[in-house]
Amino acid sequence: MKASLKACDVVIFGGGGDLAMRKLLPALYHLDMDGLLAPTTRIIGASRREVSTAEYQTKIRAALDEFVPSSVGDEKTWPRFKERLSYVSVDAQEASDFSRLNDHQVGGDNRDVVFYLATSPDLFGSICSSLAAHGLNAERMRVVLEKPLGRDLASSRAINDEVMKNFNEQQAFRIDHYLGKETVQNLLAIRFGNTLFEPLWDSAHIDNVQITVSETVGVEGRWGYYDNAGAMRDMVQNHLIQLLCLVAMEPPGRMDADSVRDEKIKVLKALRPIAGANAYTKTVRGQYAKGMIKGKEVKGYFDEEGSNPDSRTETFVALRADIDNWRWAGVPFYLRTGKRLGQRYSEIVIQYKAVPHSIFSDESNRQLQRNQLIIRLQPEEKISLTVMNKVPGVSEGMLLQPVDLNLSLTEAFNDKRSPEAYERLLLDVMRNDATLFMRYDEVEAAWKWVDGIMSAWNQTSERPKEYASGSWGPAASMALPIKDGRNWHDY
Ligand code: BG6
Repeated sequence: MKASLKACDVVIFGGGGDLAMRKLLPALYHLDMDGLLAPTTRIIGASRREVSTAEYQTKIRAALDEFVPSSVGDEKTWPRFKERLSYVSVDAQEASDFSRLNDHQVGGDNRDVVFYLATSPDLFGSICSSLAAHGLNAERMRVVLEKPLGRDLASSRAINDEVMKNFNEQQAFRIDHYLGKETVQNLLAIRFGNTLFEPLWDSAHIDNVQITVSETVGVEGRWGYYDNAGAMRDMVQNHLIQLLCLVAMEPPGRMDADSVRDEKIKVLKALRPIAGANAYTKTVRGQYAKGMIKGKEVKGYFDEEGSNPDSRTETFVALRADIDNWRWAGVPFYLRTGKRLGQRYSEIVIQYKAVPHSIFSDESNRQLQRNQLIIRLQPEEKISLTVMNKVPGVSEGMLLQPVDLNLSLTEAFNDKRSPEAYERLLLDVMRNDATLFMRYDEVEAAWKWVDGIMSAWNQTSERPKEYASGSWGPAASMALPIKDGRNWHDY
């Protein structure tokens, strides 16, 4: 990673919340450990609670103990990190409270400021206007907007309009943490750093693309948020669609924010709308029932705390997307994501076409397996390419078998710790590099597509299909590619 050694104030609204404790502060801690924070960079927690800086530091120490076990007993980074931490009590809805940020010298000495809005998006507008009212929206100040950016196109526009009254597009960093994952960036390296793949990256050579983000966790005490969102808004509208864009976009002229985003938006605009009856043939919704995951019995969606038995919120989505352009004509992109599935893993599978004619005519070779490029994001980071090989030996004649050429990033770079997505992204905001963040027109185009599907779902009395926890989702999801003569890639 490139260094960000320009001093900066990082103010986290929602500074005592779950995201801050689990992800943001551990990421900042790691950046500090790797020497990537300037000596005078400060980290300032802000939220409604009246908490002293000492109490805030203690809370963060406990969070690091839990989420960064390697930091326990760390005498080197912790004392320095602790010095950076302070706390200011600010009620996001109380404009006058923001003067406390001025009292705290936020942005003093011409420092850059990152305001990380890890709060409910309903507060983004009022936070931004109170910041501006206190002179905290100069060009060198940026806002990071956490998802969900609305629950549909209209609400997303309303949030954006509010933010844009006081900050300009260059100052707005809309985060999607999937874009900060190492293997996602490696996808760009694979595609655009090699001559090997790009000439074969089109409908003449690729049969279909599959993107799976499978989770074993359930709603984890977040019923209130989750039931209002569901898998489509929580995962597909952002993470899965962003992955699809990176797979499908044309090579950008340069690796900079606008060049990359200009290519992604073309993909989003070329997504064929799914509406009306198509929503039933091209999408599958599911809701998890109780079941077993890794030998443990787990609750169904309706047994979760705070649940409402009338909920029709989907915890699983599978769908077929089509991109109407020359490169991808006729190539289905199958997307699926769900909670409480059998395994936690995320991967992108590029399924190549069959060879046009097999010269290996004996019975055992009739079914030549097609080449597959698998980009695994988690749990392990790896890229593998399945190729057909001859099985060694003479007795079998010319017997072929698929073999994986594996590039394990962990093994190839075994001295390197693989950074968490938030590390890369926080560093990028500090360096004012928006390449891995979403521009507003992308968010809008993604909502437009998703809204079409959701409005078709809302016009029916059909409920999401139940699936047992620990399974791979509703049976209808398995049938989705089968209808097209294809199969999901097995984990
Ligand atoms: C978040 C969603 O954006 O991504 C969560 O709100 C989901 O519901 C999480 O669990 C998954 O992220 P990761 O990095 O653990 O795959």
